[in-house]
Amino acid sequence: MCGIVGCIGRGDHTVDVLMDGLRSLEYRGYDSAGIAVGPSMEVLRKSGELDALTEVVEANGPTGTYGIGHTRWSTHGPPNDRNAHPHTDETGRVAVVHNGIIENYGELKADLQATGVTFTSDTDTEVVPHLIAQAIDAGADPETAFHDTVDRLEGSYAIAAIIEGSETVYAARQGSPLVVGVGDGCTYLASDVPAFVEHTRDVVFLNDGHRVIATADGYTVLDGDREPVDVEIETVSYTAEATGKSGYDHYMLKEIHEQPTALRQCFSGRSDALEGTVTLEEIDGIPQPNAVQFVACGTSYHAALYGAAILREMGIPAETYLASEYALSPPPVSLGTLVVGITQSGETADTLAALRDAKGRGVSTLALTNTVNSTAARECDHAVYIRAGPEIGVAATKTFSSQLVGCNLLAEELVDGPRDLRPLIESLRNLPDDVQSILDTSAAEELVEEYADSEAYFFIGRGTNVAVALEGALKCKEISYEHAEGFPAGELKHGPLALVTPDTPVFAVVTGDDERARKTLGNIKEVQARGAPVIAVTDGQSDAAEIADETLMIPETDERAAPVLANIQLQLFSYYLANALGRPIDKPRNLAKSVTVE
Ligand code: F6R
Repeated sequence: MCGIVGCIGRGDHTVDVLMDGLRSLEYRGYDSAGIAVGPSMEVLRKSGELDALTEVVEANGPTGTYGIGHTRWSTHGPPNDRNAHPHTDETGRVAVVHNGIIENYGELKADLQATGVTFTSDTDTEVVPHLIAQAIDAGADPETAFHDTVDRLEGSYAIAAIIEGSETVYAARQGSPLVVGVGDGCTYLASDVPAFVEHTRDVVFLNDGHRVIATADGYTVLDGDREPVDVEIETVSYTAEATGKSGYDHYMLKEIHEQPTALRQCFSGRSDALEGTVTLEEIDGIPQPNAVQFVACGTSYHAALYGAAILREMGIPAETYLASEYALSPPPVSLGTLVVGITQSGETADTLAALRDAKGRGVSTLALTNTVNSTAARECDHAVYIRAGPEIGVAATKTFSSQLVGCNLLAEELVDGPRDLRPLIESLRNLPDDVQSILDTSAAEELVEEYADSEAYFFIGRGTNVAVALEGALKCKEISYEHAEGFPAGELKHGPLALVTPDTPVFAVVTGDDERARKTLGNIKEVQARGAPVIAVTDGQSDAAEIADETLMIPETDERAAPVLANIQLQLFSYYLANALGRPIDKPRNLAKSVTVE
């Protein structure tokens, strides 16, 4: 995580451009923030959220014609002023911002200390400005000093630097995201496009190993051998407005309400309702795998549980692995296994490591992601996009719903054989309207008034609704800070039932009226017998609404689409609970949107 920005060619607007860019990237970390501008080499940095830096900037009024900025999610050293970026060498001639981890920093630091360099922070980043300064002292010009330094770094990084006497922004990418914004007479650099999308939508997506030398006259992309690279400028489709809050109190609420659009985008142009077929152009003609292994983290892992369940129902052996465990104890693969990484950002280090492990063992890999040209998309053999649009709130909402639809499209594309998909297509096509009707009528906010002072919240479901129960609990705990757990309903009696009391409401996700639904009704009675109030999230097909103490209704639909709808009700409950408790919903403590360290 961490967000970095840079710009050159914007004259007196430089500081505003950097600060606005950081505001759009604050979701990547909010432990501290800072900027450095040239030619003065003024550095301002402050622990805490960006507002703290804004005060410092307003008080000092720095000016500059080029610069770099950083918003931090701590990896090395506590979140305080001295660890805030930019970091400089002892004389302040070099300023550097960095996202990622420099794995050999211990060794580099020891070497530098042996030559008498004094460090002023606990970060791994600080080795970089010292190395650049030492190279300059040894006679290198600034650009050579930058390259020589980057050559010595191991690990993952996106780095931007400015150097006294050189009206240039230097940058390098290895394992952490970095994009170039191409403006009219100016160049932007950032971890993510929203940082500069209000200025330009023309973007160069860099690859690992690329370096950028940006001056007021333009920019050059070089490879690790310092040779120029031909890069393609792509025009991204989203606008500055799409990254704003559009009148909602929080990005999370805005993104919950964007779900009808997100789902429409995900599905559009990928099915033929008359023929009853689904086509994912990106992987059209891909052979049916013998087995599928899903790797993912957090919310995306819950989407993977759902994806594996539907593939199994279609007769394909499918397993789900937490990405952080996969590479450490890799499961056996065979010819014809497909490893699918589900990752909204496409930059989650654990998921990338798992995908790389699979690729290293000769297995075909596929990324199901929201982020075009993300590392996962580029490194995998195949990429399928869920097209949810930018998600800024740390808690994933619209991307989860789109991942579930993406899993359906993927499964239908992967599995051969004639099937009549018309009923499924019809329900996926109706999904945006069904979601809208939940958003218009949900009773979730009223329920919060009754249950906001509960001791804990439990969530249960069976089949594909296990994914909904686990996701409901994750959303609830991460933004409300209340204790919340999700369980397959049948597991309650094997332990968790001991936690159930009249102060622990249980959300039971019951859709359809099959064996699973009927068994879940039995579990509802078990928890009611222990005094727990039960809120049924149901389509009304079973007796759940009659048995439960409260209901959150969803429209009746296909069994594959129902989990998407049930989850919307749980998102709304978590949001209103967190809001009632006064939590910082878009930026929950200790969390960041894109987790680029293992
Ligand atoms: C929770 C949440 C996280 C992410 C996880 C993986 O709301 O957003 O659990 O799902 O960090 O992120 P991606 O999907 O970007 O790989």
